[in-house]
Amino acid sequence: MYRACIADDSEGGAVLGWKAGGHVLSVRQFDSASLKEIFAVSDRCFVPPSGPSRLAEGRLMAAIFYEPSTRTRLSFEAAMLRLGGGVISTENAAQMSSAAKGESLRDTMRIVAGYADLIVLRHHDQGSAQLAAEVADVPVLNAGDGPGEHPTQALLDAYTIQRWRGGLDGLHTVFMGDSLYGRTIHSLCLLLRLFPGQHYTFVAPPNAQPPRALLQELVAGGVRLTVTSDLVAAVRSADVLYVTRVQRERFADPSEYERAARCYRVGPEVLEALPPTGIILHPLPRVNELPEEVDTDPRAAYFQQARLGVPIRMALLGRALGVL
Ligand code: NCD
Repeated sequence: MYRACIADDSEGGAVLGWKAGGHVLSVRQFDSASLKEIFAVSDRCFVPPSGPSRLAEGRLMAAIFYEPSTRTRLSFEAAMLRLGGGVISTENAAQMSSAAKGESLRDTMRIVAGYADLIVLRHHDQGSAQLAAEVADVPVLNAGDGPGEHPTQALLDAYTIQRWRGGLDGLHTVFMGDSLYGRTIHSLCLLLRLFPGQHYTFVAPPNAQPPRALLQELVAGGVRLTVTSDLVAAVRSADVLYVTRVQRERFADPSEYERAARCYRVGPEVLEALPPTGIILHPLPRVNELPEEVDTDPRAAYFQQARLGVPIRMALLGRALGVL
């Protein structure tokens, strides 16, 4: 159970590296110090329950989702409710909001900003969160902008690794799956590079390779990179195996999706090669790339990972509202 026990302790908010009341649009906003602070605030949300928090009482979060979501929307909503705030949401904004009548995202964001104290937005266009932040006069939190970024997911991914391994320095992370359209991969690899000694290996289908500009940026940032099709060899020295599904909805040609989706899977040979200290993460949902048999493996951390979305989002919401 989570409880916002942060109310009586003001030290957490004061030193976060990004602005109270500010937007969360990209992992580029964070440095290692701000990350540690977010983790510290999140840690303090794990105290046994002793009544509901009133930290965000009277404040409203609007969750506007133009793309499907289970974990991100519900964990944001749970986080806001656990802080004592309220939630208004459209979970199918593309069909059920005025977007279906032709309203622009700019107009919708301007209007919603008048109803709520912050906006959590998921939208199919890359750059949509930035656009929303330009017109909304309340904080905007990017819950996924098409194939762009998913910063709050990357924060909870890094938080999971931190809790599981005790640190983020010197990691070898194998990113398996769709590195072209996978926004969680984009955000996580940009976030972990804040810590020294990172080695990333991308194991992606030929038609879902990581964007060249991203690779160049990572190399310029001192990350050691390997791109390979040999998953078993890659995981032999992995600390983290970050599995993702191929993003079906981003492929214009269904046969291209089928081709990509067949490429990689966490089979017994992968589990055997992964060191005992390695951990397996997946932002979920999974399709065929991560069979259920893996769930009982002691290195499977993805269900804990999903749970950690709540304290991380409590910290982010609390900070955006200026109550933490
Ligand atoms: C991810 C997303 O939406 O990008 N899901 C999530 O937020 N946990 C990953 C995905 O959809 O594959």
